[in-house]
Amino acid sequence: MRYVVTGGAGFIGSHIAEVLSNEHEVVVIDDLSTGHRENIQDFDVEFVEGSVTDLPLLREIFRGADGVFHQAAIASVPKSVDDPLATHTVNETGTLDVLLAARGAGVKKVVFASSSAVYGEEPTLPKHEGMLPAPVSPYAISKLTGEHYEAVFSKLFGLKTVALRYFNVFGPRQDPSSQYSGVISIFTDRVKAGEPITIHGDGGQTRDFVYVADVVRANLLAMERDVTGVFNIARGRQTDLNTLARGVMEAAGREVPVEYGPVRQGDVRHSLADISRAREVLGWAPEWSLVDGLVETIRWD
Ligand code: UD1
Repeated sequence: MRYVVTGGAGFIGSHIAEVLSNEHEVVVIDDLSTGHRENIQDFDVEFVEGSVTDLPLLREIFRGADGVFHQAAIASVPKSVDDPLATHTVNETGTLDVLLAARGAGVKKVVFASSSAVYGEEPTLPKHEGMLPAPVSPYAISKLTGEHYEAVFSKLFGLKTVALRYFNVFGPRQDPSSQYSGVISIFTDRVKAGEPITIHGDGGQTRDFVYVADVVRANLLAMERDVTGVFNIARGRQTDLNTLARGVMEAAGREVPVEYGPVRQGDVRHSLADISRAREVLGWAPEWSLVDGLVETIRWD
């Protein structure tokens, strides 16, 4: 098979490309705005530097592709607040470009990286796919729009599509360098360096953390199985930030001071997914515990 991974030099995309490259022909397209060449240097993929907003380029590289894993995006909520138009262009117009190019090239299926952000301020836990989305950021709107475009392209043109609503994904190659990076990438980076970690608020907030290898498997199943629609991808477990901080230190075998700062603006207090749809329809279940995932993440350099 020949697969294209958009955003394939990024955190999640590079893991998908790596696993695919063992058995398939893989083309990675990435504009390297947040991705890195080094993320894909150790395995056999064709790399094209370019953006999903370049429709003619997409048309060219989608030719002969069986499926597309669409991971490219401006993946930051705060960035989308600062510059909604940039997020709109890359995440919405870019997704429309991907769907248009996929349809034109006769691609059989597109698997799209959506986000738990689409649930927004909906307070009910656990979050399930039947809930009405309530986006509260341009980023969340952009992911929801992507899902809608997918559904409409399926209906109108018969292009098969799946949207995976990722919760808090973590693992090797997640970039810790920005203040908006995933909390686990920041904590593991600090603990390895012997530096203090900061918890925003009292540490009682919870997240549903899922290890990247499980997310890759969800993507492969979404592509291979005869399924369409929207799926939560999470572990279905709630972990509070205090427990997470202790877990990172235990996995690293190193203690660092924990500092408490003000609650981060716009933070949701609790997050937890209902993953029964992914279990029942996709045949997927998370296999990695938080502790095992943390150990792997810390081992990575
Ligand atoms: C995550 C996703 C975002 C998605 C959103 C949906 C990441 C990087 N972001 O945001 O794309 O739209 O879920 O709800 O996966 N924290 C600290 N100390 C730190 C860094 C973070 O205490 O040094 C706290 C944050 O304040 C937050 C929690 O850790 O309460 C998780 O933060 P973060 O990893 O940034 O993810 P989300 O905000 O959940």
